[in-house]
Amino acid sequence: DTGQLLGPDHGYGPDIDHVLLSARQIEEKIEELAATIAEDYAGREVLLVGVLKGAVMFMSDFARALRLPTQMEFMAVSSYGSSTSSSGVVRILKDLDRDISDRHVLVLEDIIDSGLTLSWLLKNLGGRRPASLEVCTLLRKPDAVQVDVPVKYIGFDIPNEFVVGYGLDYAERYRDLPYIGTLKPEVYST
Ligand code: XMP
Ligand code: MG
Repeated sequence: DTGQLLGPDHGYGPDIDHVLLSARQIEEKIEELAATIAEDYAGREVLLVGVLKGAVMFMSDFARALRLPTQMEFMAVSSYGSSTSSSGVVRILKDLDRDISDRHVLVLEDIIDSGLTLSWLLKNLGGRRPASLEVCTLLRKPDAVQVDVPVKYIGFDIPNEFVVGYGLDYAERYRDLPYIGTLKPEVYST
């Protein structure tokens, strides 16, 4: 039972093996990140770049928690590979709508796993000559240290397990789950 603390489970409850982060823990962490970032960017206008689709919940909650005027852009990339691991070969599915040159860009990521996707993305965005370019990720897996990507803001370091919820999907499901958890093994085999 997910109970009050975790929020409604949208009927996904039976698929969930264990809960890693409750909706409350996520909310508190976002407040904390937003406070730090508001201080670091005081007096500057921030352009938030969300990576679709996983970062959509994070973008929405973070932008409201950050008490600074911001603008939002979204980019969708796909890394070739299986549904649960990436290959580092990245393709742009949707590019930014605007020029980011001379802008203070903060990339919002849901999760950094191997770091391959982000490493590619930072090179791509860096080439567009922003005034500054930093990354804020809600989650990071220990594998991320294998690729040297400079990530200034990190919400949670989590174990090396596939997670779903709060924007993260398995086969496009569970993005709307308000907490983050792992799936029972039988969910993958059916
Ligand atoms: P890399 O390995 O390039 O991967 O850092 C980043 C992208 O892979 C996806 N990813 C996950 N998606 N649960 C998910 O739902 C996970 O545990 C997970 N690990 C990696 C995600 O799209 C991320 O942007
Ligand atoms: Mg995915």
